Amino acid sequence: MTNSATAKKVALVTGGVGGIGSAICRELALQGQQVIAGYHPAEEKTAQARLAEWKQEGLSIDIAASDVANFESCAASAKEITAKYGKVDVLVNCAGITRDKTLRKMLPEDWQAVLDVDLNSLFNVTKQYIDGMTDRGYGRIVNISSVNGKKGQFGQTNYSAAKAGVHGFTMALAQEVARKGITVNSVSPGYVETAMTKAIPADISAAIVAQIPLARMAQPDEIAYVVSFLCNDRAAYVTGTNISVNGGLFISF
Ligand code: CAA
Repeated sequence: MTNSATAKKVALVTGGVGGIGSAICRELALQGQQVIAGYHPAEEKTAQARLAEWKQEGLSIDIAASDVANFESCAASAKEITAKYGKVDVLVNCAGITRDKTLRKMLPEDWQAVLDVDLNSLFNVTKQYIDGMTDRGYGRIVNISSVNGKKGQFGQTNYSAAKAGVHGFTMALAQEVARKGITVNSVSPGYVETAMTKAIPADISAAIVAQIPLARMAQPDEIAYVVSFLCNDRAAYVTGTNISVNGGLFISF
């Protein structure tokens, strides 16, 4: 970590050096927040490269390593972050992975890895900051779900289950902390142009895009914009909800 302590709102974005996460970091920093981009220790090189870019742009974005699948790692990172910045006011749980396979081919480790990173991380990370938010009477929590948590997706029993779980967590926690000035919401992106979607075989990807009414994938900053709305002070009455940003791929209410 490189920046110094600050009186600004402090935002932690897990998966903060990834495609959607780094766009969220930029957006929140442009809105005047001190941002910390969480990243997995294995992403050190990417994290340093992002940090250099952000510094050059003059954005207040720091980086902090932790494994969101591991409670102790999250606790150690939270200790460092709160020692340096004093608090976390805004938490965006964005870290996520895929291990796409039909259930017949899926191995227990494919199931477990996705559940750990995409769902259990919400417990591991949020647990570290919820008491501080409650004590200070302010918090904004945004959990990144997925269109595929709402509609299911061929080849993603693990991911669809985890992402549906993200919203269950969101609805329950929203009720627990509503009277403490903390809002908890989820955002369900559709297909977004990132490394994750580039890994989909080209023919399958083209078939998916053909089903999207907007006829294209989203850009990461189109997701970041909606996340930043939920993180704003003025979104105080929006809680326990899910906002879809999917180009019309799955329309529901
Ligand atoms: N619906 C119905 N049948 C389908 C199908 C679909 N969507 N896709 C493939 N099939 C059929 C094939 O035609 C084939 O049929 P036959 O056996 O009769 O020929 C059969 O299913 C293939 O089954 P396999 O188990 O052999 O599947 P595979 O190994 O070829 O591919 C897969 C499986 C890797 C999961 C592949 O389907 C795939 O990559 N799908 C894309 C999954 C996806 O959308 N991932 C999103 C990643 S991005 C993300 O997750 C971000 C987000 O939030 C949106």
